[in-house]
Amino acid sequence: MANDEEKEAAARASLRFIQPGQVIGLGSGSTAARFIKLLGEEVRKGLRIRGIPTSVRSRELAESLGIPLTTLDECQEIAVTVDGADEVDPQLRLIKGGGGALLREKIVASATRQEIIVADASKQVATLGKFPLPVEVIRFSQALVAKKIAALGAHVELRTLSEGKPYVTDENNHILDCHFGAIQDPDKLAQQLSEMPGVVEHGLFIGMASVVLVARGNEIVELRR
Ligand code: 5RP
Repeated sequence: MANDEEKEAAARASLRFIQPGQVIGLGSGSTAARFIKLLGEEVRKGLRIRGIPTSVRSRELAESLGIPLTTLDECQEIAVTVDGADEVDPQLRLIKGGGGALLREKIVASATRQEIIVADASKQVATLGKFPLPVEVIRFSQALVAKKIAALGAHVELRTLSEGKPYVTDENNHILDCHFGAIQDPDKLAQQLSEMPGVVEHGLFIGMASVVLVARGNEIVELRR
């Protein structure tokens, strides 16, 4: 089954976690976008929920579908968030941020009771790190942070757009894509990155996913912590 169909199947499987009246975190990326579109269909059929988007892009998509939205200013408790991931390991530790939305995604996840990750089978890995780890940095600090992360063993690249300009996040920061190869101790690396001045947030999501729905061919595999 193609990745696209698996993404659609995983997104669809997440709908059963949604209950009327809930505040729902709306993830970012192509799999989460499929979920938002399916949620939009349910809203059109009468489902009453409010969404909190994790990126400008997801907000615009949700608005275009008529999904009622709220903000973290108004509501600090989110029942369920449905989001994607770039990699998922057997302990449900994630790499996120391939789409550049890791900061708001992690903030929303931290306010969420049930974080549901939807993924195609290509995202399931034995060890995190083949996918470059995104690290969001204050621009002022980016060279210094890049040097420190390189000293931890990564090849570090500033994320750029096709025309060569740096990619700018929704919070106006830059992203360093850090190629570690296999990350043997994600918990330790997460701690090291969090302690670096100038790092706003990193894409290791540890202890945050409650359920991961992996679409593998015609099957949905449900993983729980
Ligand atoms: C965005 C993310 C996405 O969830 C992640 O990149 C997966 O994207 P996709 O569903 O398009 O494969 O973390 O910041």
